[in-house]
Amino acid sequence: MTSARSNVLEIESLSVRYETPDGAVQAVADISLEIAAGECIGVVGESGAGKSQAFLAVMGLLAPNAQVAGDARLRGRELLGADPRALRDLRGAELAMIFQDPMTSLAPHIVVGDQIAEVLVVHKNMSWREARAQALQLLEQAQVTDAARRLTQYPHELSGGMRQRVMIAIALACDPVMLIADEPTTALDVSVQAQILSLLKRLMRERGMALALITHDLGVVAGLADQVAVLYAGRIVESGSVRKLLKNPSHPYTAALLRSMPRIDAPVDEPLVAIGGQPPSPRQPIAGCPFHPRCAAAPSRCTTERPELRRIDGAQVACHFPRSNSASAITL
Ligand SMILES: Nc1ncnc2c1ncn2[C@@H]1O[C@H](COP(=O)(O)OP(=O)(O)OP(=O)(O)O)[C@@H](O)[C@H]1O
Ligand SMILES: [Mg+2]
Repeated sequence: MTSARSNVLEIESLSVRYETPDGAVQAVADISLEIAAGECIGVVGESGAGKSQAFLAVMGLLAPNAQVAGDARLRGRELLGADPRALRDLRGAELAMIFQDPMTSLAPHIVVGDQIAEVLVVHKNMSWREARAQALQLLEQAQVTDAARRLTQYPHELSGGMRQRVMIAIALACDPVMLIADEPTTALDVSVQAQILSLLKRLMRERGMALALITHDLGVVAGLADQVAVLYAGRIVESGSVRKLLKNPSHPYTAALLRSMPRIDAPVDEPLVAIGGQPPSPRQPIAGCPFHPRCAAAPSRCTTERPELRRIDGAQVACHFPRSNSASAITL
């Protein structure tokens, strides 16, 4: 894939597999996607779909027994299989990730200011004095109130929202071109969630940074993303522009996800419908379309032949019988 539109990250045919004592686990299967500068891609799907594994692979942070195949290029540079030292230099500098649980990624015994400053000392060769001054600015940019005092506090002294802002400050310390945010707001209450999301949006626009936003929540995607990739059982089942997918999903799984989620724009009397059944176990691959056991309309072809991604109505869809363009997600 050549980058006519200055892609920051190009993932091509990425697969992640684990050999475990209980058998092989195909966590990610043949995923391809591109993210351009200043663009946000929302990566959605149920728990276990492979969202985190795909991006941990990009970061070079998978468990040691992971087998990775495919390509992931950051501004043309291959990340998969790259020299660990080169990768470490890239991480934190050009490529940064905000993890789901800030408490596990912040060191509990180091004050916040030093955790931010350390990134600058390591990656930017700053003195500790310079780096601490810069840390204050970064906290202010991340809209941490009372930033000077926060520098000297430990993570446990901060609220969940504050800790997530500190994670954002650390991630932004070296001005990354690509930020991966893995469920950045799941643990937060709704009003703090909205503040963090608008902060990410502003930073993305101001810095021209590319953002991969991993989330369960299509509402979050609607507010922030330009593109969406829907993952099911390790594969992309639908991808395209956020407008198209949320208004007019072609894949029955995307439509089911939309029906299962509260939406501000939905009519008040529209019921929420949980998706019946369970996603398949990655240890027991399903013949045919992986969604067929949960799909309302799965003719026999779906039970034997796995649909490949193909272009339909301006989106990419892996379904033998995609929903027609005229159907609306809201009036289902
Ligand atoms: N070290 C490992 N060994 C074996 N299987 C693993 C390992 N790490 C992850 N997996 C499996 O990979 C699959 C994908 O996991 P992943 O964490 O990417 O899901 P996810 O979409 O991020 O889910 P969630 O929304 O719950 O965070 C899961 O079935 C998980 O059990
Ligand atoms: Mg995850």
